[in-house]
Amino acid sequence: MTSEPDARAFQALTQKISRARGVACGSYKDRCLRRRIAVRMRARGVHTYDDYSRVLDTDPHEYDLLLDALTINVTKCFRNLETWQALAPRLATLWTERHGHVRAWSAGCASGEEPYTLAVALAEAARQLGQESLLEHARVDATDIDRASLERTRAPAFPDAAFSEMPPDLARRYFTVEAPRRPLPALQRIVRVHKHDLTTQPPPAPPYDLIVCRNVVIYFDRPLQERLFETFADALIPGGILVLGKVETLFGPARQRLVLEEPRERIYRRSAPG
Ligand SMILES: C[S@@+](CC[C@H](N)C(=O)[O-])C[C@H]1O[C@@H](n2cnc3c(N)ncnc32)[C@H](O)[C@@H]1O
Repeated sequence: MTSEPDARAFQALTQKISRARGVACGSYKDRCLRRRIAVRMRARGVHTYDDYSRVLDTDPHEYDLLLDALTINVTKCFRNLETWQALAPRLATLWTERHGHVRAWSAGCASGEEPYTLAVALAEAARQLGQESLLEHARVDATDIDRASLERTRAPAFPDAAFSEMPPDLARRYFTVEAPRRPLPALQRIVRVHKHDLTTQPPPAPPYDLIVCRNVVIYFDRPLQERLFETFADALIPGGILVLGKVETLFGPARQRLVLEEPRERIYRRSAPG
């Protein structure tokens, strides 16, 4: 239970952060914001939102540290392997239907493991079709709001821990052997990295055949989630695929257009118009 002055101070603080850094704090779940701000308050040894606000005034670098704390960027290559296994046959079909010109978007890509998983999954589907050269025509947009994550995605080099869920034969085929392991140049060529805020900006380069947005919307409040699901439906071609995180569920008007194909893996497909 929060008191009224506490609620006012919290609101003033989040508005200040939004103004200073252009992050739509109002669209994040309060619970999530409070937890993250509390981490930074503890780190700075202050106990009230007003005191923390004064820390931000005297040390603007604290905004960067707070935003790092807000954008929780835990990730892995082939995170939830079953999801990628369920996606594999669909990627083979995509290659065939799109004659190689596949466009994918990893929205909230963190440090790059997810867009490179997408690139590997696409490369592997093309290899199994005996058409490795298809990869040259593909594109994977990798976007995130977090500066440090984007820097890592731009110079991908992943620690061994990032590979704990990835089948070792795929890791050997598509990454250098020594840690930190780098993806092959053929994969790096198709991944384009952009700074992008899902709370305020339209999709970077629609239409897409595939949108992967996993473990991101969970931090947003329901109205924003609902809007984003509609944005994803708009940004997909008919027949295009949306993948959410394993604990995320699509709701709202977008359910009319995005059909649930794999309930456990949260794989949806945009239905044809009409
Ligand atoms: C837990 S990570 C998920 C990474 C990856 N999608 C996965 O599932 O492994 C959440 C990511 O969402 C990003 N994020 C949070 N708010 C965002 C926003 N408003 N716009 C874009 N990305 C955001 C964070 O910076 C973080 O990298």
